[in-house]
Amino acid sequence: YYIQKADSVLALMTLEEKIGQLNLPAAGDITTGQASSSNIAEKIREGKVGGLFNLKSAEKIRDVQRIAVEESRLKIPLIFGMDVIHGYETIFPIPLGIASSWDMELIQKSARIAAIEASADGISWTFSPMTDVSRDPRWGRVSEGNGEDPFLGAAIAKAMITGYQGDDLSLDNTIMACVKHFALYGAPEAGRDYHTVDMSRQRMFNEYFLPYKAAVEAGVGTVMTSFNDVDGIPASANQWLMTEVLRNQWGFDGFVVTDYTAINEMIDHGLGDLQHVSALALKAGVDMDMVGEGFLTTLEKSLEEGRITQKQIDDAARRILVAKFKLGLFEDPYKYANVEKSKQVVFSQEHRNIAREIAAQSFVLLKNEGNVLPLQKKGTIALVGPMADNRENMTGTWSVAANFEKSVSLKDGLEKALGEKARIIHARGANVVEDPELESRVSIFGKPTYRDERSEAVMIQEAVAAARNADVIIAAMGEAAEMSGEASSRTDIELPANQRRLLQALKATGKPIVLVLFTGRPLAIKWEAENIPSILNVWFAGSEAGDAISDVLFGDVNPSGKLPATFPQNVGQVPIYYNQKNTGRPLPEGEWFQKFRSNYLDVSNDPLYPFGFGLSYTEFNYSNLQISSNSLKDDQSLKISIEISNDGKYDGAEVVQLYIRDLVASITRPVKELKAFEKLFLKSGEKKKVEFELKQKDLMFYDQDAKFVWEPGEFEIMVGGNSRDLIKTKIDWN
Ligand code: IFM
Repeated sequence: YYIQKADSVLALMTLEEKIGQLNLPAAGDITTGQASSSNIAEKIREGKVGGLFNLKSAEKIRDVQRIAVEESRLKIPLIFGMDVIHGYETIFPIPLGIASSWDMELIQKSARIAAIEASADGISWTFSPMTDVSRDPRWGRVSEGNGEDPFLGAAIAKAMITGYQGDDLSLDNTIMACVKHFALYGAPEAGRDYHTVDMSRQRMFNEYFLPYKAAVEAGVGTVMTSFNDVDGIPASANQWLMTEVLRNQWGFDGFVVTDYTAINEMIDHGLGDLQHVSALALKAGVDMDMVGEGFLTTLEKSLEEGRITQKQIDDAARRILVAKFKLGLFEDPYKYANVEKSKQVVFSQEHRNIAREIAAQSFVLLKNEGNVLPLQKKGTIALVGPMADNRENMTGTWSVAANFEKSVSLKDGLEKALGEKARIIHARGANVVEDPELESRVSIFGKPTYRDERSEAVMIQEAVAAARNADVIIAAMGEAAEMSGEASSRTDIELPANQRRLLQALKATGKPIVLVLFTGRPLAIKWEAENIPSILNVWFAGSEAGDAISDVLFGDVNPSGKLPATFPQNVGQVPIYYNQKNTGRPLPEGEWFQKFRSNYLDVSNDPLYPFGFGLSYTEFNYSNLQISSNSLKDDQSLKISIEISNDGKYDGAEVVQLYIRDLVASITRPVKELKAFEKLFLKSGEKKKVEFELKQKDLMFYDQDAKFVWEPGEFEIMVGGNSRDLIKTKIDWN
């Protein structure tokens, strides 16, 4: 139906107009609407633009759409995209944070709200979800993904896409999703953004591809190419990826857009001039060219010279027109830009309340020695650290539509929660980093972050004085928002040294300390883990961060987040991840070091905090692991049950995780693979039984020839509250 409709438009189009549909300029500064590509309005009139992205506000979008549908020859509406990554104006935790909730319903809800707000403001297409598996916390964009695990990543991809697209894309409050960055963008060498990716096909298919594939199965409308090369061919020219895997094997029928100037960058990759790389991209299966105008300026010539075919151009233009028909833009080009509705829904109190709830679910309690937490709402609290009174850094990377001044800082949140009940003494204590040059590189949208020009000694002195007069210290520390995200890779993933010095001075006061850790990546916080009694990792929690953190600090919400990525002891262990292979020389469990075994001389193989880890104010215990059979045949299925009891004083939620190990196979297999999880709520003293079911296909894998195969044999089944502390049993499945 949509194809027929698209074909009827295609039949009226000139070659130039068809190529115009493949062109996606950036709107430029999203607050001023100043376009970065030249003569945008003129190009829209001439039918040389298919869509525009990162233009904010219903009014501005209506104005630009008017040019397309009133002043261009064929009146084809534009599609308006935006990086609505973790919320629109109501900002939710960064993706790595929201992944820590392991709560698919809440994650879906966050995407639903983002779609409701963005669509009211004219956006019909979001460049989300990013589902790049990453095991390298040096890579800045680890913050934008769902961590290291393909199974969790796949579940989240599905939840996000369902949230954005709903059941019916033609509604005016659902928007088209774009899974990115296809493929393997999360595995650059040395964690350096945009760097080379080189990986075995087995690993691609068994691990890194799963979330992209899940996105396609969930009906994602569009796919974005990645900047990196895969098997020596940049993704945007990689026909194997874009056509063979994506369309032929997985059945994707939407359109493929490049990342920002990714076609032009293939000149620097060393593939040839702009005409050549543009032709390669089209032939590979790319439909839309983001910003670079390689398609716009060279495809006509390439067609004349026989380097590409008319069919390739028609196919790409058709796919983009189909998307516009699906969104209902031909029926009503203004349907997504509703000025009145925007005023009601964008950053509404209702949305903010949900964001606060979700944020609290994303926090991971890493340590709570002596039950310093939860705090009581009384006495005197010293609030120190560069993230304490810092609204602009609450939302984290890629919150392009956010209004930072409206974010709730930790200080705001604590003041509201405490009122007259307790006294807060605030002292900044340290800048985010010592080096002003480094700090200038992590400014937010070019706006320098606030820097205290006093000397370090003076700032520390002030913070220590505050601490001495307090009953407890809340140290709000960590990375600034833009220390993770695009082009923000780091080789040093510890707490910045000046902040560590502040912590050391605070520790010397002998007062109890709660470290509220802000970060967009797993950090190597060994010193903090050994020396600070209580650590609450809050990632970047979004516009309601301060309220949500207060909710958890004072025990109104019991933390239940679990790490979606391993925290290393030091950067030298990276990449470190739970689903590693055994090697031929594994270190026996519990051992530190053995000569001629796979280990290090100077640090154990253990992570600081394993995947799936997170504490609670209460205590959960696991018992009575039962399986329906320990000897299965063919397509039978295995039922697994376990009992969990809440033996502590607080009600709370626990994420029960099920892992398997394929003990003998034709290729080396991971020592653990997450295959199921369930988040459940237990009242204090309550006990519940959780049941899982595994089917034969859950134990299948891609073999040496990338064929999805079933290999019978012995499997280990493991259940627990994190990837390390597990109750195990074995089965035979023949
Ligand atoms: O969507 C993003 C992408 O993730 C990184 N490069 C720019 C794109 C558009 O803003």
